[in-house]
Amino acid sequence: MAFREYKIGSMMFGVCLSVSMFVTIFLPGLDISGVSSTQLALEKQLTYGWESGFNYYDPFLQGKDKPIKVTLTKDPRTGAKIDETDAYVFKPGTHFPDGLTHNWILGDKVEKASASTGRIHEATEEKGGVFLVQVADDDTPYIEYATATRGWTVDAVLKAADQQFLAGSGKTMFIREGCWWCHTLLPEETQDWQTFGRPPMTGDFNGESPTTFGSDRKAPDLLHVGSRNSSREWLTMHFFNPRLVQPHSIMPRYDYLWGDKDKEGNPIDLKAWDKKFMAYAKGESIYPPEVPIPASGSEARMLIDFVLNLK
Ligand code: HEC
Repeated sequence: MAFREYKIGSMMFGVCLSVSMFVTIFLPGLDISGVSSTQLALEKQLTYGWESGFNYYDPFLQGKDKPIKVTLTKDPRTGAKIDETDAYVFKPGTHFPDGLTHNWILGDKVEKASASTGRIHEATEEKGGVFLVQVADDDTPYIEYATATRGWTVDAVLKAADQQFLAGSGKTMFIREGCWWCHTLLPEETQDWQTFGRPPMTGDFNGESPTTFGSDRKAPDLLHVGSRNSSREWLTMHFFNPRLVQPHSIMPRYDYLWGDKDKEGNPIDLKAWDKKFMAYAKGESIYPPEVPIPASGSEARMLIDFVLNLK
């Protein structure tokens, strides 16, 4: 008798759980898969590459397996001057984002333009390559595989680049360091508009994983932070020790992301720095100690590139 009641109870529980999973996971999934990628979604996919959270290719979240974003002012093949262009460099073996491997997630029109004009089907992860984001005459954004269309090779583009941004690896740092415990990347449809800028649209997230919306907000939203604060110097000081520029900030310091050596190869001594900083904080010295310039491949550099890229 008792057994029968348990059975009915567990069946009811099972049915309720399945229905609620169907409604909350499957139905929105259908809805989202019908959304076309915006230009921003394409740029994000090419900046961040495949999966920035925990994954098989970068299990310790060190920013490996990520593309490099560069700006070009001359054609890497011919050397001719061109308008400033962002290009996304995937060294051979770097994993492609979902938009390049599962083209249907781009949305019908974007997929067609990327295939016919952009020739993305010719790209393979083994060979790597260089990609651009373009906009067609009818305003459809699409991905161009510049290695096929213009003969831009990985080596030539890295050599010709004015600047290299490690924003893709930086997103991994953002996730690993838990910045999302305090900061959102999701301005809401409220007064947020005035302070933090435009809320994102559904199509902005095609192919991005994870979305890092944040858990709940204890600090400013960062979705457009690079537009309101584009000073590399300020960010460098702020990440090394937020109290240098915001005396009452509750943000933790991230000085350990600098590694052992600064840009010139000089060793970084965090203990000695702290001692000097405390003397400054207590008013014993007028000047704060200098913040080391992060080395080119350091995790600090990756994180700063990511934040500056949030426009
Ligand atoms: C304990 C909560 C906390 C964590 C964790 C945290 N922050 Fe902050 N952050 C703040 C607060 C509070 C402010 C505002 C005061 C200030 O500027 O220091 C801030 C400010 C900022 C700003 C300046 C925002 C603006 O509007 O100009 C940036 C950029 C930033 N944080 C990035 C990060 C990044 C990247 C991480 C992870 C490496 C991080 N923060 C981790 C609390 C946090």
